[in-house]
Amino acid sequence: MCGIVGYIGPKLADAVLLFGLYRLEYRGYDSAGIAVIDDGEIEIRKDTGKIRNLERLLKEHPVEGNVGIGHTRWATHGAPTSVNAHPHADASKSIAVVHNGIIENYDQIRKDLQSKNFLFVSDTDTEVIPQLLKSNNFSKDEEYDIFKTTISKLEGRFAFLILVEDKPDRVFFCRNGSPLVYGRSENEGFLVSDSSAFIASVKEQYFVKDGEWGWITREGIVLFDKDGNRKEPELIEVDHDLTQYEKNGYEHFMLKEIFEQPTVVRNILDKRIGANNLINFSELTMSKDFQAKLFRIVFTSAGTSLHAAMIGKLYIEKFAKIMTEVEFSSEFRYRNPILEGDTLVIAISQSGETADTLASIHSAKAKFLKVLSFVNQINSSISRESTAAANLFAGTEIGVASTKAYVAELVSLLLYSLHLAKLKWILTDEEISVILEEVKKLPKQIEQILEKADSIKEIAYTMRDKRDFIFLGRSYEHPTALEGALKLKEISYAHASGYAGGEFKHGPIALVSKDVPVICITPKSEVYTKMVSNLEEVRARNGIIFSIHTEGDESVPALSNYSFAIPDCSEYITPILSVIPLQLFAYYVAIAKGCEPDQPRNLAKSVTVE
Ligand code: AGP
Repeated sequence: MCGIVGYIGPKLADAVLLFGLYRLEYRGYDSAGIAVIDDGEIEIRKDTGKIRNLERLLKEHPVEGNVGIGHTRWATHGAPTSVNAHPHADASKSIAVVHNGIIENYDQIRKDLQSKNFLFVSDTDTEVIPQLLKSNNFSKDEEYDIFKTTISKLEGRFAFLILVEDKPDRVFFCRNGSPLVYGRSENEGFLVSDSSAFIASVKEQYFVKDGEWGWITREGIVLFDKDGNRKEPELIEVDHDLTQYEKNGYEHFMLKEIFEQPTVVRNILDKRIGANNLINFSELTMSKDFQAKLFRIVFTSAGTSLHAAMIGKLYIEKFAKIMTEVEFSSEFRYRNPILEGDTLVIAISQSGETADTLASIHSAKAKFLKVLSFVNQINSSISRESTAAANLFAGTEIGVASTKAYVAELVSLLLYSLHLAKLKWILTDEEISVILEEVKKLPKQIEQILEKADSIKEIAYTMRDKRDFIFLGRSYEHPTALEGALKLKEISYAHASGYAGGEFKHGPIALVSKDVPVICITPKSEVYTKMVSNLEEVRARNGIIFSIHTEGDESVPALSNYSFAIPDCSEYITPILSVIPLQLFAYYVAIAKGCEPDQPRNLAKSVTVE
């Protein structure tokens, strides 16, 4: 999604803005631009494609100034052209804007302004903001009233920054739904989509809340709530763990993050399992009594986090015996679901900013339900707006294709289901201890899988020309099949579909041919023999099989063209292990095809628009 950066201070703004934009690259974008007040005038530079194109443009046509705004655009309204790239300005170039989100009533505003002879040059919704401000005489008059009146006319979810030629001592901002963080350092101020874009000197930050607006100066922030009341921001410390933003010798962030998974799991276990194997979710601001009485749980999430929720449902039903459902957040928010009684809504999100998931939290809360979120970005909108939030402890995830956050989601949900089982007196401490001893083997087991990454690479290279793939799994491995297929299509652009093994003969089997590899996730489990039947069916039709099986199993490899062993473990542990070779498979197919796995086309890391 779009990334925004604003700066005011003693440094050269173009360098600070470029640094921030490079840091926000991972969000996904198709053009980039900056605006700087240079010698009293707003200068705009923007281009399509990568930020290095903008950097090149700045070398050819430099700008010099100490206040500016920058943007990476992920196209929604209008094609990814340099005219549609941000910043956008009014005709006299006295007001420039960068914006993340959507102005839903832009068409009406645009028509009104056009009827007053305002000329529009782009196809974007954003352009109405500087034009509307200009029509209200913003650059001449007192900022407070004009700004407040103008933003009250805008509908939708957005965060934007404004540079005004006549007011070079400030950068204006407004947030309504899209993320925005203020950062402070000595004699300088920053406004960014997320804290990764701060330079190292920024030590304090404030997460701007919905409805808030104002401006920053070198000295600080002038902040108002939506009714125009002045507020004091509560600044908190910035965590500058720079290793998260470096590839540390890996070719891509995605590969680095796949290899970080043993550490991530160790971290979660350290945080969540205390002495005597007691599970700790003590940070949850939700009474134990309420959790113990739960009758129903509804998961809401999207993409990879939805697949984690599907496994979370199996964990909660198995261990805590609570009726559980899983909803696409994009459907949940619009279908007015029946939510009542002792029901808990659980939102899962790596970014904590997914617009649909956030909206489903709002609809659940409107029905007076409690919402628990599992979130990797713990300072995000989703955690702030939930009744209680649990940290996934995966560390910053940069790769657009989620890997380590998924594994963190699975481990966290397994532990939470055990926590509920204890509160409901379904499992004793001793029974939970037995399960935890097995969970503790995970980091080592993941390492064993990663040590064999090269064999996945070889398999992936043999399949690089295939255009279609089928992924099959049952029970705990059905969501793994969906996740394996999602990873592959996201970064290699091959068509891939995941199915529950039992559904295969109801249609998808018609696709089997030597050109459509079938990836069968077949570890030892209660449905093992059923999955073996799937393998037989594919083999009988001359299909190509790549299977994931349990170490020591000889039957599945004998039925397969290619196979990969994962360590022997209980059925509920297998999805945490079996997804690792599939992440590697997707990565190596993408590399073999010459694709860029960290920045797949059309995708954004956090989907902050509907
Ligand atoms: C994962 O590889 C995807 N990029 C995507 O499906 C993602 O999981 C989805 O957009 C949900 O994001 P969230 O976890 O940040 O809410």
